[in-house]
Amino acid sequence: MNLERIREGSYSGRDTHLWKSFGRILKHIGYEASWEVVDPFARNCPLAHRWSNDLNPTTSAKFNLDAQDFLEGVPSNVADLVIFDPPFSGTTG
Ligand SMILES: C[S@@+](CC[C@H](N)C(=O)[O-])C[C@H]1O[C@@H](n2cnc3c(N)ncnc32)[C@H](O)[C@@H]1O
Repeated sequence: MNLERIREGSYSGRDTHLWKSFGRILKHIGYEASWEVVDPFARNCPLAHRWSNDLNPTTSAKFNLDAQDFLEGVPSNVADLVIFDPPFSGTTG
């Protein structure tokens, strides 16, 4: 497994997937639309088709489980990309 830490951009709104910096990171890692994306904190991010989750049932996520329970149900070796974008404070989410 390759792990790489990329520092990009600054806060610019609730929908992380709409940030320019998020797009630059996807470009940097060579993201392709055919990738299987697993997103345990997806809110309305459209990148994960089969494996989108958010505790909040008013979001577009397919599952509404606690992230840990959701991840325990995702089969091994299914993901090309896992997005970890949890709430960073008690006032955001
Ligand atoms: C920073 S937002 C995600 C934004 C999203 N990645 C995007 O691109 O717009 C964090 C999300 O985590 C969800 N959340 C908070 N606690 C959670 C938990 N324990 N399990 C799953 N989702 C959780 C919140 O409802 C919120 O939508």
